[in-house]
Amino acid sequence: CNYLVERSRGEIIDTLVEGLQRLEYRGYDSTGIAIDGDTPDKTLLYKQIGKVDALKQEIARDAPERDIAFASHCGIAHTRWATHGEPRQINCHPQRSDSQNAFTVVHNGIITNFRELRTLLANRGYTFESDTDTECIAILFKHLYDENLSNGHELDFHELTKLVLTELEGSYGLLCKSVHYPEEVIATRKGSPLLIGVKSDKKLKVDFVDIEFPDDTAGKPDTPLGSKNATPNASSRNLLNGNRRTRPFDGNNLLPLTANEFNLRHSQSRAFLSEDGTPNPVEFFVSSDAASVIKHTKKVLFLEDDDIAHIYDGELHIHRSRRPEVGASMTRSIQTLEMELAQIMKGPYKHFMQKEIFEQPDSALNTMRGRIDFENGSIMLGGLKAWLPAVRRARRLIMIACGTSYHSCLATRAMFEELSEIPVSVELASDFLDRKCPVFRDDVCCFVSQSGETADTMLALNYCLERGALTLGIVNSVGSSISRATHCGVHINAGPEIGVASTKAYTSQYIALVMFALSLSDDRVSKIERRKDIIRGLHNIPDQIREVLQLESRIKELCQNDLKDHKSLLVLGRGYQFASALEGALKIKEISYMHSEGVLAGELKHGVLALVDEQLPIIAFGTRDSLFPKVVSSIEQVTARKGRPIIICNTNDEVWAKKAETNKLLTLEVPQTVDCLQGLLNIIPLQLVSYWLAVNRGIDVDFPRNLAKSVTVE
Ligand code: G6P
Repeated sequence: CNYLVERSRGEIIDTLVEGLQRLEYRGYDSTGIAIDGDTPDKTLLYKQIGKVDALKQEIARDAPERDIAFASHCGIAHTRWATHGEPRQINCHPQRSDSQNAFTVVHNGIITNFRELRTLLANRGYTFESDTDTECIAILFKHLYDENLSNGHELDFHELTKLVLTELEGSYGLLCKSVHYPEEVIATRKGSPLLIGVKSDKKLKVDFVDIEFPDDTAGKPDTPLGSKNATPNASSRNLLNGNRRTRPFDGNNLLPLTANEFNLRHSQSRAFLSEDGTPNPVEFFVSSDAASVIKHTKKVLFLEDDDIAHIYDGELHIHRSRRPEVGASMTRSIQTLEMELAQIMKGPYKHFMQKEIFEQPDSALNTMRGRIDFENGSIMLGGLKAWLPAVRRARRLIMIACGTSYHSCLATRAMFEELSEIPVSVELASDFLDRKCPVFRDDVCCFVSQSGETADTMLALNYCLERGALTLGIVNSVGSSISRATHCGVHINAGPEIGVASTKAYTSQYIALVMFALSLSDDRVSKIERRKDIIRGLHNIPDQIREVLQLESRIKELCQNDLKDHKSLLVLGRGYQFASALEGALKIKEISYMHSEGVLAGELKHGVLALVDEQLPIIAFGTRDSLFPKVVSSIEQVTARKGRPIIICNTNDEVWAKKAETNKLLTLEVPQTVDCLQGLLNIIPLQLVSYWLAVNRGIDVDFPRNLAKSVTVE
């Protein structure tokens, strides 16, 4: 939205479309935008399935007048990953309330009671054109608007939103624009991220926004859909004949505050005047992801659950749809993002995934930077320091995550238990919730997530918070929901990861978890030598990763010749390398669409061996650790059945050199490190195998079909 910053409609379209392009890395199946018609009381809608380019072409075909200039304008846009309703044009967002586009809505998340709402609204004569849950929201806006208007109540946009939200169950990050509220936009969230970028050439008078919380009735269903005689709530009644822009800020309606806070808030009922008090030309960029905003501004404000941001007249007002928790912050501050746009560009690489694989020497170093003193062998994790005594007293540690992040927990569990002497369980977030796993106040729950937004992980976090456990986040995205909701944690500092298949975040999560275990054990005399070994090992990891990356051309050949036409592939590992096998197989599935299974080598004889013959490609981890003899014996079981596994082994390992010669096996050599860190090096050949398998098959590596980078739905 821009205010007093003259923009042509063409510029507004370009800004929205470009914003969508910045979100392409998250994975999506359709796109759409809503912009003002020739006057802001009309809305134009464009939607397309597929890539943002298709949307651009659709707009070009319709050729809306690009030169019309607007001094204030609100447009909304969306990339969708289908949850309800297949990817058809009619299901793209923005969804609308009616053929006049009276209310248009874009929405992330899932409305779980949408079937009930649909029935209720259909009974009242509304017709639906899509299969989406979102359409209900747009129609609800219209229904409640019309109903209140017919009762003589002209609701303020945020008051109307409050009424709509009382009807919604589930999760949402949503934007709404309406022909009845020209030049205004609503942004609200629950369980789905939203941030607001603020761009202004003048210095702002304030760098925070106070929350307006008018009365105790807010957030309660004043006009439930089921009720026949809807009445507006007390505060909306105040608006009947008045002008809301000049409505006095009623301090008496606020929650009890300290004197200072009260004054602060009282004076800030109009945020975003410039320092000299004059109206401020300002542009607001609301998004679920900072990547689409940073080109325009680095000043952002993160919305919290149940916040309703109402933007109009160049001002941003934040209201609450329900009473905040006691002690919750009543101000939202503007922060400066450190992320550079260049960081999210591809550089010399063909795909983001390839770039991210090759960034690992640096990202691994960045995870450790300023945190490990290699000379003294000490670790300092600022976000955990004060909490370590409480963690040490825990009766168990539960690690909870999804996908690749889950594998980083599996990869480090044994080392964690060894160093911390705390029992550790590792849980898939969805299964943990399905089982309603018992959680107690003396548990420590550690949530690992690249995006910090994964809905399953976030729900598990809320579940543990409700039960009073100490919660800890290991997260890449600064300012993400998980990093903000946990008591303490570590940012892995891997930099933005754009390829849908996670690579550098895995190695950085692994390192962050190792550092966490090391800091937990720094008071244990019995662990001194082991800790020194691990810290020395960590010191060498970036260079060793660099060495492994030199395997790329051999792996590329291998994928072109030996693995190309196969349908299925097994990855074998045991002990520390079981997690590598699972993660390697996941990478292959995700982006090459080849069926692949990570197998615990000890379990081979209990079933999987039946698959082995001279055809089935197998990759086996045979690097040195205490389980080496057992690994060798498992691989012999395979070669005895004419299997020809490719062995990932340590450089110049004589055992494998001999076996490779006798059995005509291929080997990929990686340097040796401490047993519990070996997985950091072993995963890299598998990342490269998956990448080159996918490239050979002509797959869009960064955007594999059916997958999303950040899965913000349950
Ligand atoms: C999605 C992604 C995976 C990722 C998983 C967990 O499924 O496609 O690559 O590992 O979510 O994501 P998180 O952001 O929580 O690590």
